[in-house]
Amino acid sequence: MVQTTHTAPFVMADNSTVDHTAPVTADMNKSRYLSTQWQQRESEQLWPKSWLFAGLESDLKDSGDYIHFEIGVESILIVRDSDHSLGAFYNSCQHRGNRIVTDSHGKGMRHIRCPYHGWTYGFDGALKGVPSRKRFSTEPCAETHSLKSVQVAAFEGLIWVNMDKDAMPLEEYLGTLKDKIAPYNLQRMQLISQQTVALDCNWKTVRDNFLEQYHVDFIHPQHADTVDCENSINTLFPFGHSMTRVKGFVTDEKYTVPEKAPHYLAPLLSGLDLDIDSFDGRVPDIRQAVQQQKRKIAKHLGFDYGPLSDEELTDVIQLDIFPNLFLTIQAEEVSIYTPRPHPSNPDQCYFDKWTLQIPEEMACDPAKGWMLSPLLNTSKETPRPKHDYFDQDAVIAQQKTLSLTFDQDIFYLRDMQAGMHSRGFDKVTLNVDEVRIQHFHNWLDSQLSQ
Ligand code: FES
Ligand SMILES: [Fe+2]
Repeated sequence: MVQTTHTAPFVMADNSTVDHTAPVTADMNKSRYLSTQWQQRESEQLWPKSWLFAGLESDLKDSGDYIHFEIGVESILIVRDSDHSLGAFYNSCQHRGNRIVTDSHGKGMRHIRCPYHGWTYGFDGALKGVPSRKRFSTEPCAETHSLKSVQVAAFEGLIWVNMDKDAMPLEEYLGTLKDKIAPYNLQRMQLISQQTVALDCNWKTVRDNFLEQYHVDFIHPQHADTVDCENSINTLFPFGHSMTRVKGFVTDEKYTVPEKAPHYLAPLLSGLDLDIDSFDGRVPDIRQAVQQQKRKIAKHLGFDYGPLSDEELTDVIQLDIFPNLFLTIQAEEVSIYTPRPHPSNPDQCYFDKWTLQIPEEMACDPAKGWMLSPLLNTSKETPRPKHDYFDQDAVIAQQKTLSLTFDQDIFYLRDMQAGMHSRGFDKVTLNVDEVRIQHFHNWLDSQLSQ
């Protein structure tokens, strides 16, 4: 048992049921990251009973469009029907269990067809066609051999599934987080990259990395001049969700404000028609200047930031939605991250990153050289980027990148996992900056003990 008595620097969400008067307490035996028994408990108690992010609604525009995603040993197929409803099914043919679909997305299926012996199903999962049907002693039919369905729901262009037929509705599960996401209008953003990297660590090792900024000073030194992690605000929500909010375009309070603006802000400032040298000796003014210029240029472009406040034009929020979804949200770009377990090995996982941006034509005036964010990818693939798969060695060798920041994280994740295996290490000790990790594991424990 690990226990600290710090007063945690977080605020409680409205209507939260989390007891914030309790000391920060955790039972963080290392076995949760390492043991196959623990992984098995998650396979039985966590994944089949949770709302899980499965993909983007933009991949399901028309009848017969489909996506498929894997979580541990399970594989789920989601299809758009001709009446525009969505169907979600275990991706296992009811003949002999073959996985029907193996690519992550596709368009315009005429029916769901197993490639092995050619059984076909409607988009509602009903068995339609069975080659040589009369050769079965009891003929398979829709009543006995249709695909097994799971719950599916869409929110703000994000598709979710839940294998538990009795699970609460997605909107209830998200609660007030819906109001944090909706103002950013994700549905008008475009997918500009989809990546999956295989990592030699437990999915929760990745997850914990996202839930604290304690490590930022040490492995992400570039953040000191642009985000104030020292004063980030953590908010805990029911059901294990949490959020952190970080002020952008400011110097971290722990560091001396520089005389000159950091050089890597130059593309942003010039895109906003601001001269980086004009901030010599007045670097703290950059934040407000960026907010004002974004408003001015958005008006020129006819782009509507909607209900976003000035602060939301410069700040970063990160939402952590239990059990394995992170959204890093800025006004012009959203990154979606999902660490997923390996089917059998607790020392391995898959990590997906989806990047969405407001369309370039909404956010740029090439004639004037104006651009609302330097993050905008002006050379994106059309109509849809390919799903890129690689492993951590490709990132460490700098052949692939998720982002500078996450590449820096990946460099350490394998070593974290390896170090925990040692007989010289037995428990994880958390401080108050790591309260979101605590919150996640507390909720995980409650789910696994049901
Ligand atoms: S396993 Fe699918 S048709 Fe035989
Ligand atoms: Fe990091």
